[in-house]
Amino acid sequence: MKENTQFEPLAVLTEKEIARPVISFERANELANTYGTPLVVYSRTSIRENYRTLKTAMPKVDLYYAVKANYEPSLLDELQKEGGFVDICSHGELHATLKAGFSTDRMIHTHPCKTAENISICHEAGVRWFTFDCESELDKMLNYSKDFNLILRLKASGEHSLINLSAKFGCELSKARELVNAAMQKGGTVKGLAFHVGSQCIDPTDYDDMLIEVRKFWDYCVEIGCPLELIDIGGGFPAPYREAIPSLHSFAAEVYGYLENHFGDTGARYVAEPGRGLAARNATLITKILGKNVRSGETWYFIDEGLYGCFSGKVFDHVDYEIMHPKSRTAALETCIIAGPTCDSSDVVSRHDHLLPDMEIGDLLLVPTMGAYTHSTGAAFFNGLPPVKIIAID
Ligand SMILES: Cc1ncc(COP(=O)(O)O)c(C=O)c1O
Repeated sequence: MKENTQFEPLAVLTEKEIARPVISFERANELANTYGTPLVVYSRTSIRENYRTLKTAMPKVDLYYAVKANYEPSLLDELQKEGGFVDICSHGELHATLKAGFSTDRMIHTHPCKTAENISICHEAGVRWFTFDCESELDKMLNYSKDFNLILRLKASGEHSLINLSAKFGCELSKARELVNAAMQKGGTVKGLAFHVGSQCIDPTDYDDMLIEVRKFWDYCVEIGCPLELIDIGGGFPAPYREAIPSLHSFAAEVYGYLENHFGDTGARYVAEPGRGLAARNATLITKILGKNVRSGETWYFIDEGLYGCFSGKVFDHVDYEIMHPKSRTAALETCIIAGPTCDSSDVVSRHDHLLPDMEIGDLLLVPTMGAYTHSTGAAFFNGLPPVKIIAID
């Protein structure tokens, strides 16, 4: 049962979105001839469109791109030029974003468990907004300096998300009062509250449920004199893989409605940390069939990218990627096994999951929605294989 809900859902969640490549097969052939495969192609137009879609749907929300999804320079460059912000979690990400032109006042640091080096390098560079979710993390920062704008990360249920990001981090609401009081006693300044509904969330009411609880806690903090000024709704915005999902605009507009509904009267600054929602749609993988074999009546295709590369998201994120062949719409389709290029037997990308035409060695396949947690989470050089090549087109 929801409380305090004046906002009427927009009923636009029926607007569905499916996975689409950022290039045609014709263009993929040209690019593969020029650069070779496997190749990830980023579209700068798509990056701008995604950013603007989110911004239009959530006008008062500052979008801090979660760089962990991937710090491809073309992506950072476009977001920087759009006036975006970044969510970093290490000094490696600090350096990548500084290089892309983000100043430290456009960054928040969201790692709830930081090394001393991570804290000092980022703080010295000028980053001031940092997340914490427990007393020991608070001590690490406050023993180093009192000059932090602290954001308390709260645990969310993660009920309708593919990846539960509260399984590892986030202070339980039942312990949050104690923690905020401890922070104040230690001379810390808690200025924000954050949560993360989980990655690839498919039901925006998870934000609503969480915002109701966070608002109660916000009011408590204000009562005890805690100078809150920021509410951070984290990431979670979904991307289309094999399942159609609510369109980015409809999903974000719904979330924004909940945010305005529960926090509109607080004057709080709104922040979101979209990773997948901003990055995934912008990239398409071009992969080539290297081998074909029929084993025990099953057709196997071996392709030049696998679980140790861009398909790592299948392992870590349980993502089911769309795989497209130019004849997918016209030829008879059959089940098959698609395996990656390494000698590892577990390097299988699809086991009877995809219906594909009869294919030949040398054919190209397109895999859309390859821009988040793909090449960034792979294990480059396993079996001596180089990482995927990455290019950006307009
Ligand atoms: C703190 C934090 N913020 C944002 C994100 C980005 O989440 P998503 O890619 O679901 O938008 C993550 C993902 O791990 C995260 O840990």
